[in-house]
Amino acid sequence: MSNVITYGTFDLFHYGHLEMLRRAKALGSHLTVAVSTDAFTEKDKGKSCECPYAERTAIVAAIRYVDTVIPETCWEQKVSDIKTHNIDVFVIGDDWTGKFDELKRVCEVVYLPRTTDISTSGIKQSLFQGGRTITNTRA
Ligand code: CTP
Repeated sequence: MSNVITYGTFDLFHYGHLEMLRRAKALGSHLTVAVSTDAFTEKDKGKSCECPYAERTAIVAAIRYVDTVIPETCWEQKVSDIKTHNIDVFVIGDDWTGKFDELKRVCEVVYLPRTTDISTSGIKQSLFQGGRTITNTRA
């Protein structure tokens, strides 16, 4: 039995998010997901969400790989979350490689490869340009 945690905004929930949650759950038996609040996303991550926190949380909570959802309100909460939820593994996409290595003193840290050719920012860009025909390498 091991407890896994991951963090993210999960705006316009997409296949890359689903794959992240599926692979995160496969690393243990219980998955906690910290979803970035609207205020944290805007103030500290420098981007705005299309979907409000309550809706992003409802979608993440409905994913069968997810056991617990908590709010992410600041960068500094991770060590506290890891202790509170008895976390064994911290996992996040490899766009963050090296950024959370300091957590190795409290749990295992795993950076998973991102799913190719999809991102929230890419979807927003594509919709802004009027949508696209499917050109990703997964199709
Ligand atoms: N993720 C992934 N593969 C993707 C997109 C996201 O594995 N194609 C992972 C991220 O690495 C992160 C989690 O899913 O661990 C949540 O990512 P998030 O930042 O919410 O999604 P993005 O699509 O990367 O959003 P943006 O384009 O706004 O950065």
